Amino acid sequence: MAMHSHAGDYAQRGRRAPETPRAGGMRLAKWARTAQRYLMPNFLWSAVLYFRDGALVSLASRVQSGSLVRFGKGTVVKAFSIVQTSGGRVEFGRHCAIGAFNFIAAGGGADLIAGDYVRIGPHVTILATTRNLKRKDQLIVDQGSADKGIRIGSDVLIGAGATLLDGCAIGDGAVIGAGSLVTKDVPPYAVVVGAPAKVVSWRR
Ligand SMILES: CC(C)(COP(=O)(O)OP(=O)(O)OC[C@H]1O[C@@H](n2cnc3c(N)ncnc32)[C@H](O)[C@@H]1OP(=O)(O)O)[C@@H](O)C(=O)NCCC(=O)NCCS
Repeated sequence: MAMHSHAGDYAQRGRRAPETPRAGGMRLAKWARTAQRYLMPNFLWSAVLYFRDGALVSLASRVQSGSLVRFGKGTVVKAFSIVQTSGGRVEFGRHCAIGAFNFIAAGGGADLIAGDYVRIGPHVTILATTRNLKRKDQLIVDQGSADKGIRIGSDVLIGAGATLLDGCAIGDGAVIGAGSLVTKDVPPYAVVVGAPAKVVSWRR
């Protein structure tokens, strides 16, 4: 029996526009980003972050090089975590801990800014970027982004395996339970759990 393939539909609907000069510039920026993400030796960039920011970044992590990613003094990035950006700033304050196996990303249009004493458990995902995807006559990859960014206050605990979606703001002192999916703002000193995350108690 012949199987219907959607590949042809997408090829028809999703024909890509010819490249403009701006697109050429963007392609160059993409190459620079690729070099910053993949070609800078880890030990070199960890040393730069130690001397520039006073941060301790595991040699087994992958923090994008350049001026867009910054950490405060005493902040630690543990092994196998990735911190990257497509153009927005990613900034953590002083004495933060980014646990092992985190994926932390900003898009090109907004920033991810965190305060001091933010503790992040292992396997946390923070996505400060949103793709436009409503139109079905264009490939998602061609619809661009509408990044809102993420703000995280100080003295925040983000439990293991939590995911923070673009646009949320986490108030000072909030606790995000392990495995939570945060889609909205979390008030200061709230304890939230679940998917989507809801307030279940308050720090007092
Ligand atoms: C959210 C959290 C802080 C709540 O701790 P707590 O106030 O002591 O809450 P309790 O353990 O008494 O649990 C209260 C209720 O919430 C539920 N609950 C606790 N954590 C939950 C979570 N992450 N997701 C869903 N439900 C959770 C419990 O099952 C319990 O339910 P019940 O009332 O129906 O029995 C804690 O469970 C948590 O997730 N901590 C993060 C730990 C972590 O990942 N640390 C990272 C390493 S630094």
